[in-house]
Amino acid sequence: MSQLAGKVAIVTGAARGLGRAYAEAMAREGAAIFACDINSCDDTVAAIEAAGGRAVGAVTDITSMASCTAMAEQAVRSFGRIDVLVNNAALYAGLKGARFEKLDEAQWDAVMTVNVKGLWQCCKAVVQPMRDAGGGSIINISSLAAVYGLPYGLDYVASKAAVIGMTRGMARELGQDHIRVNAVAPSAVMTEGTEDFFGEKLEKARKVIAAGQVIQRNLETQDLTGTIIYLASDNSTFVTGQTHMVDGGSWFL
Ligand SMILES: NC(=O)c1ccc[n+]([C@@H]2O[C@H](COP(=O)([O-])OP(=O)(O)OC[C@H]3O[C@@H](n4cnc5c(N)ncnc54)[C@H](O)[C@@H]3O)[C@@H](O)[C@H]2O)c1
Repeated sequence: MSQLAGKVAIVTGAARGLGRAYAEAMAREGAAIFACDINSCDDTVAAIEAAGGRAVGAVTDITSMASCTAMAEQAVRSFGRIDVLVNNAALYAGLKGARFEKLDEAQWDAVMTVNVKGLWQCCKAVVQPMRDAGGGSIINISSLAAVYGLPYGLDYVASKAAVIGMTRGMARELGQDHIRVNAVAPSAVMTEGTEDFFGEKLEKARKVIAAGQVIQRNLETQDLTGTIIYLASDNSTFVTGQTHMVDGGSWFL
């Protein structure tokens, strides 16, 4: 059964990694996908079309409000409406970890600009089209790092904790518009981004993370897509303001 038939979903950061996986999974469930990223989403769009789905790609820089507005306008022009926004784009891969007092100030500012301000801007851009569609679902990607308090990455931790706060605040403001706002907080998934993020500490991190979970194996991409589809679909119409941990039972909220 196609759980997202008739829905139009924007996925940010969809050029690779988890964003691409979310786009492809939602397309398989019948959603038309507007895939955007600061890099080309051509491969994502081609994969969706090859599987029989519908997708349009765009280069969008979420740090620019003008770019976010263009993203929403082009999505409406392409598919007529916006039902779902997956706020997945973030600075994650390539971040340089350090004790909090040694973190690079320019990196701190960049993380806040993309992961916090960029997410806010994407929400601002889609909210009116979602109201016009009679409601919608915003899915904000946070991280286990935020609730666990991952050491040596305070810029990233702070940004992903902000995502949870923004999810709660926007959920309260947007309920009257039938727009639901939820966060998803995954533990570490093996993507190119994760390899960059943990570098030579990757294998140790994988073991430590798995050992701290009720389900003692590492998270796979396909463990996440079901939660995204559920939150995008009408199966979650009374669920808003929540942070959904997809972490094998590492942390109970
Ligand atoms: N992979 C994990 O283990 C994990 C765990 C928890 C949370 N997350 C979160 O999931 C999301 C995706 O993770 P990933 O592993 O695929 O990461 P990734 O770094 O590979 O992908 C992030 C994507 O965002 C895009 N992006 C960066 N800045 C942008 C901007 N200004 N405008 C538009 N796009 C921009 C990048 O080009 C990239 O395609 C991120 O929000 C990350 O913080 C990942």
